Amino acid sequence: MEKTIFIKDINAMKRLAFQLEPCLFEGFVLCLEGDLGAGKTTFTQFLGQAMGIKDHINSPTFTIMKIYDHDLRLYHIDAYRLQGQGYDQDLEDVIGIEGVSVIEWHQYIQESLPKDVLKMNIVWVSNQERQVTIEGTGPYENIVKTLGR
Ligand SMILES: Nc1ncnc2c1ncn2[C@@H]1O[C@H](COP(=O)(O)OP(=O)(O)OP(=O)(O)O)[C@@H](O)[C@H]1O
Ligand SMILES: [Mg+2]
Repeated sequence: MEKTIFIKDINAMKRLAFQLEPCLFEGFVLCLEGDLGAGKTTFTQFLGQAMGIKDHINSPTFTIMKIYDHDLRLYHIDAYRLQGQGYDQDLEDVIGIEGVSVIEWHQYIQESLPKDVLKMNIVWVSNQERQVTIEGTGPYENIVKTLGR
């Protein structure tokens, strides 16, 4: 299942995150794609806010994984530095197993990802506007249907 949602401004992006939040479950995997400045970190911040996380969420670039403890833990993962590796055991022990994993540069740890994930590709349209293509298989198919309505 795949769907493209037009986002007219940052508030619409926030609404999308708040719409996704009730769909989250233990072991949820969200792969975020998009160029520099597309809004990957912004979306993750809104999702964390929707989950009730009070800490400030920023880019995990220099740590690979940041953990935000909550009822549902948020694992914010940036796999950029694992380029060429394809896999990471520590990440594999978490992704799809506990908490919610939000993964940037997921293609670099393809072998450590579960079969089913929710993928969001954010495309910059203008300063305020974005186009978000959402793709999900297995348990994520119905979530794709729900989003953006
Ligand atoms: N509709 C929108 N959705 C998301 N971000 C928006 C929107 N409109 C404006 N912005 C702004 O665009 C910027 C997006 O930057 P952000 O750091 O989230 O991108 P990123 O994809 O994480 O980039 P990077 O790859 O450099 O980490 C923010 O400054 C945000 O306020
Ligand atoms: Mg970012």
